[in-house]
Amino acid sequence: MVKKRVGVLVSGRGSNLQALLDACADPAFPAEIVLVLSNVPGAYALERAERAKVATVTISHKGFPGGREAFDAAMDVELRKAGVDIVCLAGFMRLLSPGFVQSWAGRMINIHPSLLPSFKGLHTHAQALAAGVKLHGCTVHLVTPDLDDGPILVQAAVPVLADDSEESLAARVLEQEHKAYPLALRLIAEGKVAVDGNRAKVEAPGFGALVNPVP
Ligand code: GRF
Repeated sequence: MVKKRVGVLVSGRGSNLQALLDACADPAFPAEIVLVLSNVPGAYALERAERAKVATVTISHKGFPGGREAFDAAMDVELRKAGVDIVCLAGFMRLLSPGFVQSWAGRMINIHPSLLPSFKGLHTHAQALAAGVKLHGCTVHLVTPDLDDGPILVQAAVPVLADDSEESLAARVLEQEHKAYPLALRLIAEGKVAVDGNRAKVEAPGFGALVNPVP
């Protein structure tokens, strides 16, 4: 098996990066992480990468000469140099320029902590609590130029409980993020995704349903 080469873009604590690193540690997993790129010097995600002996690059956006396109071009150089096939955004807290997104179309995925298309943007758990939804969750999707948009690959739903706080709900969702992201990467790496307009058709062995409250 020729493993797909993955570059992960991070800005923070990197718990999703860790889930991907752990998945890639399995010799049977169809992808390997070859580069972790951070726009934040000292991000904890970088330590995780170093511990896993994965190459890291930091390109700080602060004071970067030439604006967003130039910054994205600098990231692109690093990704191409590392021979990356698939880009994973894992808590990467920067908007991407349309040209960069276009050049990785179909090969760049993101994880978002809500059941898209509900609750785009920031503070998704507060948004879900304010809306009173009974199911919340996370989404892994292909990246398109619009924020938190693009064909959906994997979603995981969790119940919203009556006494939930933003923190308790975030923790419940995060646990599922760490399962959903490796699953989505595996599906993409194995070529099991066919995109038809805004719909990604995914070859997967099963399906499940979650109802809350339990009848
Ligand atoms: C996650 O909740 C992810 O869904 C969102 O940013 C957060 C990153 O967390 N895009 P971590 O850095 O992976 O721990």
